[in-house]
Amino acid sequence: MVEQIKNQIKEIIENKYEITNLVVEDGKIDNVDISVPLFAISKNLRKNPKLIFDEISPLLELEEIKEVVFLNGFLNINLNREAISKNVIKKVLEEKTSFGNSNYNKDEVVVIDYSSPNIAKSFGLGHIRSTMIGNAIKNLYVKTGAKVIGINHLGDWGTQFGKMIVAYKKWGKKEEVEKNPIAELQKLYVRFHDEAKDNENLEQEGRDAFRKLELNDPEMVELWTWFREESLKEFMEIYDTLKVSFDSYAGEAFYNDKMDDVVLELENKNLLKVDDGATIVDLAEFNLPPALIKRSDGATLYMTRDLAALFYRLKTYKFTKAIYVVGNEQKLHFEQLKSITKLMGYNLDIEHVGFGLLMVDGKKMSTRGGKFKRLEDIITQIVSDANVAITEKNPNLKNKEEVSKAVGIGAIIFNDLKNERNLNVDFNLENMLKFEGQTGPYIQYSSVRITSILKDQKIDLDKIDYSYFNQDHYYNAVKTIANFPKIVERATESRNPSVIAKYLLDLASQFNHFYGKQKIVVEDIRHLNTNLSLISSIRDILDEGMRILGITSLKEM
Ligand code: ARG
Repeated sequence: MVEQIKNQIKEIIENKYEITNLVVEDGKIDNVDISVPLFAISKNLRKNPKLIFDEISPLLELEEIKEVVFLNGFLNINLNREAISKNVIKKVLEEKTSFGNSNYNKDEVVVIDYSSPNIAKSFGLGHIRSTMIGNAIKNLYVKTGAKVIGINHLGDWGTQFGKMIVAYKKWGKKEEVEKNPIAELQKLYVRFHDEAKDNENLEQEGRDAFRKLELNDPEMVELWTWFREESLKEFMEIYDTLKVSFDSYAGEAFYNDKMDDVVLELENKNLLKVDDGATIVDLAEFNLPPALIKRSDGATLYMTRDLAALFYRLKTYKFTKAIYVVGNEQKLHFEQLKSITKLMGYNLDIEHVGFGLLMVDGKKMSTRGGKFKRLEDIITQIVSDANVAITEKNPNLKNKEEVSKAVGIGAIIFNDLKNERNLNVDFNLENMLKFEGQTGPYIQYSSVRITSILKDQKIDLDKIDYSYFNQDHYYNAVKTIANFPKIVERATESRNPSVIAKYLLDLASQFNHFYGKQKIVVEDIRHLNTNLSLISSIRDILDEGMRILGITSLKEM
C-alpha cells in the first residue's frame, strides 16, 4: 500500500546514503504518485541531483513502481496502480471492518476516565462531550491493539451531598424525588443556595452533614445511597441511548476508604504542609497554586479522591497510560495531579484530554438558562426532526422510529466530533441534520446508498479487472481507502476523533464523486465486479469509521 511503499522507498534511499529524515511526499502533479526532493542529499554530498537520481533509480525496481522520472531536482515515482489497487482492495474485501486494526499500541494498558457526571445534577453538556470523545478514543485504542479500561468516575461524593441532605431533610418530599429524581434534587440544591444567602448557619450545616456522611453516619449514608441510585438510573438511560458503556462505575465515593494511604504516603514523603488549618501540597516549583488535600475540618477533597483513584488504578490495572477526558476548565486540576505524583517520585504517563464548549448562536450553551433544560429534551427534539426529514425522503420506510433515533443521535455525535476537540462546538440542530453537508446523516446516507446498490449482487473476487484502477476516479478512491490505517493511527496518537470524522467526509465525497461519474451496475461482468468491489470496500470503511465514533450505521434510511 502507498504508505508502506513510501516507507520502503525512504528506507532504500536512507540506507544507501546513510542518512535519516529523508522527505518522501505524495506527488502533486499528474502521473506522479510519490515525490522525493533530492536537493538536501545533493547539498550534503556535493553531488549533482541527476547523478544521485541515476544511483537510486536502479534500486527502485519494485513490483508496485511503474516508472521513475527525474524532474527539476525531484525523483518522481509513478506507481503501478493496478498492483497497488489489487493489494488494497483484496485486503479490505478480506478484512472488512477489521481493516485498519493494528498492534500499534499493543503494549499499552490505557485507563480512560470519561463522562463522569455528577450525581444528583442533570447530565451536563460538558459531560455529553466527554462521553462521546472518550468513547471514540477508547474505540481507537482498542482498534490499535491496546488493552483499554473505560472508567466512569461518577461525581458521587463531596460537600454538595451534605448540602443536598440538609435541603432534603428540611424541604424535600420522598414521592417527588422518586418521580423525578434529578430534577427534584437539583431544585433542592438550588433552594439550599438561595436560602443560604440569608441564613449563615446553613453552609455550616451542609459541611457538618457531609462530615457525618464521611464518618459513615447511617442516616446520612442511607439518604446518599438513595440519591445515588435514583440518579444513576437516569444516567443509564442516557448511556443506553448513546450506546456507550463502561468497564467500571467506581465513582468518587468508592475511594472513601482508600484515601488514607495516599495521604500517609504524602506525609511520609514530607510533602504536606498546613496552611491556615488546611492540608496542602505546595506546588510552587511547578509554578502552580498549592493543591488542597484536606480541609480544616478534615474533610477530603476532589483532588484527594483523584489521587486515591489514580493509585488504585495503577495497582488494579497496572496501566501504562492514564487518560482523563474532561473539559478544559479543569486543566489546572490535572496539572496539579500530575505534579503531585512527580513530587512523590513517580513517573506516570498522565494525560488530560481537554475539549472546548458547546455554543448556541455564539454563546455558551447552558442547561440552566437556555431553551433546552435537559439532554433528554435535546434528543427528543432532534429525533423528531430526523423523523420528519426521513418521512419526506422515504415515506415507506419500515422501522422509521429506530432509524430516526440512529440518525438524530448520529447527527449530534458527528457534530460534536467533526472538529478538533479543543475548538468550541456550534450546536445547531438544523445544520447538523442536513443530509448534504458535513454531517452524520451524510455519512450514514452514503453508506446506505452503497448498500442499496449492493443489494441482490454478489461480488466474484475472481472476476475483478484491476486495469480499471488506472483511471483517476478509481485510483483516487483507492488511495483514500488505503490511507485508513494511517488515519486510525493518527487519530489515536492525537486523541482526536475529528481525524476520523474528517476522513469519513472525504471518503463519502469520494464515493459520491465516483457515483456521479461512473455507472456502477454495468453489463460487463468484470467491470461490474470491479465497481462492486470498490464501493463495497468504501462502505465497510464508512461503517467502521462510524462505529469508532459511536454512530450507528444503517441498512436503509
Ligand atoms: N465529575 C467531574 C465534573 O463533572 C468530572 C470528573 C472527571 N474525572 C476525574 N477523575 N476527575 O466536573
